[in-house]
Amino acid sequence: MNREVTETDLKLYRTAVSMLERSYSPFSGFRVGAALLTKSGEIITGVNIENSSLGATICAERTAFVKAISEGYREFDTIAIASSGQEAWPCGICRQFMYEFAPDLRVVTGTEEDNLRVLTLKELLPEGFRLQ
Ligand code: THU
Repeated sequence: MNREVTETDLKLYRTAVSMLERSYSPFSGFRVGAALLTKSGEIITGVNIENSSLGATICAERTAFVKAISEGYREFDTIAIASSGQEAWPCGICRQFMYEFAPDLRVVTGTEEDNLRVLTLKELLPEGFRLQ
């Protein structure tokens, strides 16, 4: 299931790490950064943005997707996720959110450059729901 980690994955992961300082996470203290690679080669970043009404929190992955979609990008290759703590795999809401646009998305995560893991979104969300 684990896929090869490419040089591009490493570059994306480093970009995700560089975003951690921009995370707004005063409630959990868990910083998350994401770097989303479009099929056309652009990198769109995101961080988790928490809220006093905890349910209004948006994860780093969705921040990156919302930024990208609203800028006109529709095709995505890979997303890398970094955190200030444990390995961060996308939550269930993010899996569904991303599946809408990119079932074949590669998802890269880990706590260090030398322990990155790569799975596809389809592997993380088998039989995902999408209206045709
Ligand atoms: N979080 C993300 O941004 N992405 C993930 O993949 C896991 C969780 C955020 C949501 C919340 O701000 C904090 O991490 C703790 O759950």
